[in-house]
Amino acid sequence: MHVLARLPDAPFSPRVIYWLLATMLRIEVGGVIVVEIVVEVSNLSVSYNGNRVIHNVSFPAASRQLIGVIGPNGAGKTTLIKAMVGLLNIDEGAVVMFNQPVKRVRRKIAYVPQRSTIDFHFPVRVEDVVLMGRYPHLPWWRFPRARDYRVVEQALQEVELLDLRQRQIGQLSGGQQQRVFLARALAQQADLLFLDEPFAGIDIQSEEMIMQLLKNLRDRGKTIFVVNHDLNKAGSYFDNLLLLRNSLIAWGKAEEVLQPGILKQAYCEKAAFLETFNELVVVSA
Ligand SMILES: Nc1ncnc2c1ncn2[C@@H]1O[C@H](COP(=O)(O)OP(=O)(O)OP(=O)(O)O)[C@@H](O)[C@H]1O
Ligand SMILES: [Mg+2]
Repeated sequence: MHVLARLPDAPFSPRVIYWLLATMLRIEVGGVIVVEIVVEVSNLSVSYNGNRVIHNVSFPAASRQLIGVIGPNGAGKTTLIKAMVGLLNIDEGAVVMFNQPVKRVRRKIAYVPQRSTIDFHFPVRVEDVVLMGRYPHLPWWRFPRARDYRVVEQALQEVELLDLRQRQIGQLSGGQQQRVFLARALAQQADLLFLDEPFAGIDIQSEEMIMQLLKNLRDRGKTIFVVNHDLNKAGSYFDNLLLLRNSLIAWGKAEEVLQPGILKQAYCEKAAFLETFNELVVVSA
């Protein structure tokens, strides 16, 4: 065999070069924050008992984004996020998070289900719920340590519930319960959060506080998906919107998606829109 040319020995192996490039994409380069794609959903389809509910949905999501998932009742919003976090089997397609299949990165993902699906009669205290966020970090043989309890305390402080830490979860208001689940996600130190209808049935003060917390988390580099019903707040709450009606009607910056022509494709006759002074007001949906 003739060796035509020999490449000089590389100072780094391809694996190291790949790692360096990947790291550079995650940090600030020259003061500019380089956006990293953290979620890639491709051609996702999901069914219940043979009835297809999610059809061929594809979108990428970048880091540092607050993403609203909107669409009419039964559009498949809950189904989509449950399939994304690996709680439902998928028929076709793929979900990749941090360049890995979901089951490899579960520790980085926090999911807060729709409150109506949680049994609040279960006798568990606020701090026990938040401590559950630490379990993905613990090997099976280890009990939580002082550091874990410190993280729990910090999380409860952040959602302003430290004084209610001993209270049974069922004895809290809806807004406080939602904040407990947010504290669990904080204690987990997850990078990707999925919240299903966190504002349903809670008071406006709790809603504003949770929204401020979510914006702070986004500014700290997290990506957050929030299923939300209120179209009138979608523009001020979210950076991007994912509009669903079994298939993906629209995906993009909030102001691009919140156009009457696009919304009508999803809500049809269920929504009425008023366009006044260049502002879109959803009268009913
Ligand atoms: N476990 C299930 N078994 C069978 N069908 C289901 C199941 N869960 C949901 N569905 C159906 O799938 C469709 C999508 O439901 P999904 O809960 O994802 O909608 P959604 O957009 O979250 O609605 P909502 O706004 O009411 O929460 C609906 O037609 C619903 O009836
Ligand atoms: Mg739902």
